Amino acid sequence: MPALASPPSAALDVLGVPGEINLDYAATAPCARAAADAVTELLPWYASVHRGAGALSRRCTLAYERARQTVGDFLGARADDHVVFTRNTTDALNLLARSLPAGTTVVTFAGEHHANLLPWPRGSVRLPVPADPAAAVRALAAALSELRRDSNPALPVLVAVTGASNVTGELWPVAELARVAHRYGARIVLDAAQLAPHAPVDRQALDVDYLAVSGHKLYAPFGAGVLVGRADWLDAAPPYLAGGGATSHVGPATHDVAWTTGPARHEGGTPNLLGAVALAAVCAALTDADRVALAAHEQALLARLRAGLAALPHVVELRTFGPDAPRVGIVSFVVAGQDSATVAARLAAEHHIGVRDGLFCAHPLARRLLDEAATRTGRRDLPSTALRASIGLGSTAAQVDRLLAALAEVA
Ligand SMILES: Cc1ncc(COP(=O)(O)O)c(C=O)c1O
Repeated sequence: MPALASPPSAALDVLGVPGEINLDYAATAPCARAAADAVTELLPWYASVHRGAGALSRRCTLAYERARQTVGDFLGARADDHVVFTRNTTDALNLLARSLPAGTTVVTFAGEHHANLLPWPRGSVRLPVPADPAAAVRALAAALSELRRDSNPALPVLVAVTGASNVTGELWPVAELARVAHRYGARIVLDAAQLAPHAPVDRQALDVDYLAVSGHKLYAPFGAGVLVGRADWLDAAPPYLAGGGATSHVGPATHDVAWTTGPARHEGGTPNLLGAVALAAVCAALTDADRVALAAHEQALLARLRAGLAALPHVVELRTFGPDAPRVGIVSFVVAGQDSATVAARLAAEHHIGVRDGLFCAHPLARRLLDEAATRTGRRDLPSTALRASIGLGSTAAQVDRLLAALAEVA
């Protein structure tokens, strides 16, 4: 498979197909060379994890546990944290939802991806989408203050927020939200699915209690994600997947089971070795990379893309916080008078450009932003769904220009 572009480190080259322009990194990023190489190297040794005495199995067990260490270090895990491999961010947040102590109230914002809205128990508090990051911090403080006043202060509260919006790319004030959460004795989980591919995410530096990422958005296919965070709730919760590997003792009676503690409690069954190893390889490559330079390159491309979109008369960008809010390389927009699914299909068929269309698994936010765009522009011909272009490692100015030229033609 050819590499499509050459960022500073060959390990962070991404694979792709010449002639096909992928501007849909926010859905699933292409595979980094580091991930492909790590998997290729391990494949001859591929065997069971934690289940065999043979040399192959021992090597695979070591590779899996080393991957856990590398991914945990990359995400700023504390020594006493658990780093649990999952399938993706959705799986990681569902695991946390099932691990909440009885009576926990979850507080989140309506701007979240469905993965950070739907797993939480009934009775969760969903705050309205704030007008700007400072308003988010104020709204959280007000909500937690009210919650603490009106309910038993001993009951746990979990705040669940995203680091970067999958619709607009806008950054949320995670460290400030974490400070507020802790001031009111709440814990906080960071959905870092869209932030981690673009910027360093460190659980300790941000002082969040848990964070979740998806390997496939971090240039590491093969189906692994991770939940990193505090051990106590996870060790007290029922196993996420009951079965082999999650137990320390199984006796003859049906109730005679002792569940193990640690990540294995929630990783029942044979684990996804290749997914974990691929994710760790990308984490290691990103740790070695100049992330300031990578971010500067991405921001230059993003500015080019947004300026180009703004210059197209029928294109309207969606936004939550305002045009100058800091953001990662994700832009959603509509073409007035044009159905978004049709535009996306034409970009693919006529221009070999892949973008996403729809409401991006964030229906409450996307609908609100479409309404806001109609109000802001006074246009009555905006479609009911949007388009999204997203960039990252491997994206080039030429690709951005091709999208802009294609949109000018389609519009
Ligand atoms: C912000 C955010 N959170 C969570 C998810 C869910 O990720 P996954 O589908 O890998 O579980 C996504 C996916 O697009 C996302 O953008």
